[in-house]
Amino acid sequence: MFHFTLPANLKTNIDSIDRQHLTLLITSDNILTNLEDKGNTEELTDLLNFLISYTETHFADEEEIMKQANYPGFEAHKAEHDSFRMRIESMSKVNQLSIDNTELITESVNGVKKWIIDHVFNIDIKMAEYINKHNESKA
Ligand SMILES: [Fe+2]
Ligand SMILES: [Fe+2]
Repeated sequence: MFHFTLPANLKTNIDSIDRQHLTLLITSDNILTNLEDKGNTEELTDLLNFLISYTETHFADEEEIMKQANYPGFEAHKAEHDSFRMRIESMSKVNQLSIDNTELITESVNGVKKWIIDHVFNIDIKMAEYINKHNESKA
């Protein structure tokens, strides 16, 4: 569970990005808790929709930051986002069709959470090192 702070090994030290990552992880946890507790279906639908739309918001913001800094790894990083976008899109279809299939949704959301953690750890942090250096040199 993410108790409102990002673990140190997932910090990019770009504040806006860290806040967004934390929101994505807390939302995933809230969904998993709702599923475990067999919570309110309407709330579950809202949380899933939020996770899906906020992922896109986050990717778009991160891509804008990379573009602004002329990040050389932009294309490869965006390709990672794009393949996840496709996965999220298929999850949104599953969500509409099988909101009652707790097992399936739990599995998808666990997969999403794992993807986010791996992506931040392996890819976003590398990007952020470049961005932070770039911003320092401009200051
Ligand atoms: Fe990313
Ligand atoms: Fe990210």
